[in-house]
Amino acid sequence: MNDKQLVAQHAANLVEDGMVVGLGTGSTANYFIEALAHRYTSEGLKVTTVSSSYISAIKAREVGLPLLAMEQISKLDIYVDGADEVTPSLALLKGRGSDLVREKLLARASAEFIVLVDQSKLVSRIGEKYAIPIEVMPFAWQLVQASLQAQGAIGELRPNASKDGLAMTSHGSLVLEMTFDAKLSSSELNIILNNTPGIVEHGIFEGLAGTVLIAHEGKIETRLA
Ligand code: 5RP
Repeated sequence: MNDKQLVAQHAANLVEDGMVVGLGTGSTANYFIEALAHRYTSEGLKVTTVSSSYISAIKAREVGLPLLAMEQISKLDIYVDGADEVTPSLALLKGRGSDLVREKLLARASAEFIVLVDQSKLVSRIGEKYAIPIEVMPFAWQLVQASLQAQGAIGELRPNASKDGLAMTSHGSLVLEMTFDAKLSSSELNIILNNTPGIVEHGIFEGLAGTVLIAHEGKIETRLA
């Protein structure tokens, strides 16, 4: 069992009968979906799930988990997802996939947001390893880019990973990937991005993580917000 599987298994064991469980997106979230499905089928654990992406919804259906559409829920008990960066204050960078809107909606609506990472995701500041993904309305991308450049950021639209052209989210946003002055804190960046018109959502998850489970060489460390 690798570190991602270990931490996913640990999180699946935290799910209780009757819970509505939010399913994140990515390789760690996939392991969680598998571990939860195992408890559902082998123990008869009663759960309902809601997914943060089409890809995780397909996975949940494949493994037989009961799945609700996001339109059918107004709150959930637990949301479990991975992250790309985690700071000492438990600010997160997410969104190397293209499902930030659903991910942040579920993280915010959940009574408990549990983040699963291995030690490679720990950073001293947001933006240390990756540019910040910023979903923009397609017609607004140049204005958003110019506004952020005026505040010292640099970056371009995300290219499509598998074919020519630009990456587009499942609901039709383009994604800017911007790098900011390293002196800006995650809360300052969060405020700048929340206050820029044309941005649909961005990858900084500030004050949302409740528990971060960090796997390293077969052991799990728990950090609480
Ligand atoms: C997708 C995400 C993922 O949770 C993040 O990229 C981590 O992925 P992985 O578990 O594959 O390392 O934010 O938008």
